[in-house]
Amino acid sequence: MTGKFITLEGIDGAGKSTHVQYVRDLVATRSGAGAIMTREPGGTPLGERLRELLLHEPMAPATEALLMFAVRREHLEAVIWPALGRGDWVICDRFTDATVAYQGGGRGIPLARLAALEAWTHPGFQPDLTLLFDVPVEVGAVRLARHGGLDKFEREQAEFHRRVRAAYLARAAADPQRFRIIDGTQPVEAVRAELRRVIEAL
Ligand code: TYD
Repeated sequence: MTGKFITLEGIDGAGKSTHVQYVRDLVATRSGAGAIMTREPGGTPLGERLRELLLHEPMAPATEALLMFAVRREHLEAVIWPALGRGDWVICDRFTDATVAYQGGGRGIPLARLAALEAWTHPGFQPDLTLLFDVPVEVGAVRLARHGGLDKFEREQAEFHRRVRAAYLARAAADPQRFRIIDGTQPVEAVRAELRRVIEAL
């Protein structure tokens, strides 16, 4: 595989959605290769149908975790791996770190179980770079309150989001080579400047 795989992560309201298009445009102009943007859960026709259920239908935590990985495997086989194989760069809005944060930290699924599913779903494969947009839970909540139509994760209590954030930060601390923590409380232009530095370096 010659392309690079970049993922964006963070708690709900951290600013990921504001910056994902900018990251794609940076990669498209600077990488000298094709750039595709995709998301999880989703990214394939099957994955997008399952996304509807995952974001809106109540289900057991284990079911939720298993479906996240099932959607991911389809996404890898149908979209991500072929694109990287062609030499394209892939920018993905959430990936396995989100499962560790939300289903692990948030819902309490043991991390060892998620690690086993991760090793089965994408053995030896990790993003080249993960941008973790980090904000305090209170900041994320204020931003979420501005848009209606919240999904079932966005409607969770502050305590859930605190656990999600802690799980993200622990995962980043365990793999500092791959992660860049972006302070999402900064003004948009300051975040963009930081994104330019990080993408240029890659
Ligand atoms: P999100 O990426 O925030 O999309 P939008 O900006 O359209 O709201 O929504 C995806 C939700 O799915 C988010 O709340 C986190 C959740 N999620 C998990 O719980 N586990 C996962 O593995 C993934 C990929 C997402």
